[in-house]
Amino acid sequence: MEKSGVFYYVLVILDTLLSYIFLRRNKRKPQKRAKLPPGSMGWPLVGETLQLYSQDPTVFFASKQRRYGEIFKTHVLGCPCVMLTSPEAARFVLVTQTHLFKPTYPKSKESLIGPSALFFHQGDYHIRMRKLVQASLSPEALRNLVADIEAMAISALDSWAGGHVINTFHEMKKFSFEVGIHAILGHLEPHQREDLKKNYSIVERGYNSFPTNLPGTPYKKAQLARKRLSKILSGIIGERKEYRSIGKDLLDSLLDSKDDKGEFLNEDQISDNIIGVLFAAQDTTASVMTWILRYLYDDSKLLEAVKAEQKAIYQSNREGHQQLTWNQTRNMPITYRVIQESLRMASIISFIFREAVADVEYKGYLIPKGWKVMPLFRNIHHNPDFFADPQKFDPSRFEVKPKPYTFMPFGSGVHACPGNELAKLEMFTMVHHLVTKFRWEVVGSQSGIQYGPFPIPLLGLPAKFWKVSTP
Ligand code: HEM
Repeated sequence: MEKSGVFYYVLVILDTLLSYIFLRRNKRKPQKRAKLPPGSMGWPLVGETLQLYSQDPTVFFASKQRRYGEIFKTHVLGCPCVMLTSPEAARFVLVTQTHLFKPTYPKSKESLIGPSALFFHQGDYHIRMRKLVQASLSPEALRNLVADIEAMAISALDSWAGGHVINTFHEMKKFSFEVGIHAILGHLEPHQREDLKKNYSIVERGYNSFPTNLPGTPYKKAQLARKRLSKILSGIIGERKEYRSIGKDLLDSLLDSKDDKGEFLNEDQISDNIIGVLFAAQDTTASVMTWILRYLYDDSKLLEAVKAEQKAIYQSNREGHQQLTWNQTRNMPITYRVIQESLRMASIISFIFREAVADVEYKGYLIPKGWKVMPLFRNIHHNPDFFADPQKFDPSRFEVKPKPYTFMPFGSGVHACPGNELAKLEMFTMVHHLVTKFRWEVVGSQSGIQYGPFPIPLLGLPAKFWKVSTP
């Protein structure tokens, strides 16, 4: 080898070495300045997963918060995590520095819902899908759904009446499914609705089970049901392409959408988002509605106040001969405070997951790239500094607006819930017909919580309903 050749190679090696040292230095920089948050990583591999799941998660988080403060580290479900319990920290992750934290879900769950569903994404694709979902669930769009949702609430309540015991949560799930399907896909043939319902419930069961490909397991059955769902949706999409409806539901918006290059969404993208929105809509709304019934049943004075408010509307609608209007649902202040307080007390989405896409520094602490980050909504909603006597169900606390970022039942920032107006519309409509025309009794004396996976009243709140003749 010539001398100049050797010199060249020495230069290359030196250069590589120098850049390596420089890069490492740069990479280390935040580590030098910032230290990891306080906390315990638990046992090797399992971390603190067993501690988290062997007790009420609220107790686990609260004891950590007492010990370490607003930010602490732990290791759960195979991942190192940083947990955040202050409004400022939640704002940092979800709003001001949202580009540094991406949504993260286990692959097994992502594949069941469909990897193109908007909540797995961030950036341009997420923005595009979110606009479509938001528009189809906006107050303007929902105004056209009030009458249909009202009819669904009446029919659900009528089917519960007669004094037999029902599982309130299961019945609320049926109602929120019907509403969700209607908002997303409009009117369907009964057989299409039944097929969707049947296969969707198999997917749902598998979603919360151990992911394995072994035949006969709930997860494997869910994978097969998910394929059938794609087929059913493909049929519905095909029909819709041929016969466009007059109204504009989410499916219409998805079919019309073009990107900057004029490309339409493909069928998988459309189905994944339909299943995704349905998934986000059903259990969440059903859990909160079940809690509302529990809280109203436990406080007869409050129930009387809600009844009085609703009866005034009922009477102005000629004893229910006129339909409920959108504006009336926006003018139910006592009921609205009950909904807000139920959302706070039950905090059914106790926390959410994000993943740091780079090393991030927050208040002198390092959140390393790849670590999970969890804003703990429930801890914020139950912090006595923001909500006095937090364990007390007291809707009147919402006569005063909560401080910014202390009340986030629907999340915050770019991934905040686009379905919150629909969820509220369902709740207002259900409460209106429930308290004006029915009485109910909770069966059994149990008052605990069950996780399925959202917190719900024990056993789904078994209850009996009767229609009252004179409201
Ligand atoms: C009481 C009922 C509901 C609650 C408490 C709730 C709560 C939430 C929360 C906390 C988020 C944010 C998740 C995150 O940041 O990772 C979210 C997102 C979402 N919700 Fe809801 N939700 C409810 C009902 C609904 C309904 C009825 C729909 C649709 C019809 C819906 C559709 C969605 C969608 C599509 C997202 C993802 C948004 C995105 O990633 O941009 N939700 N929801």
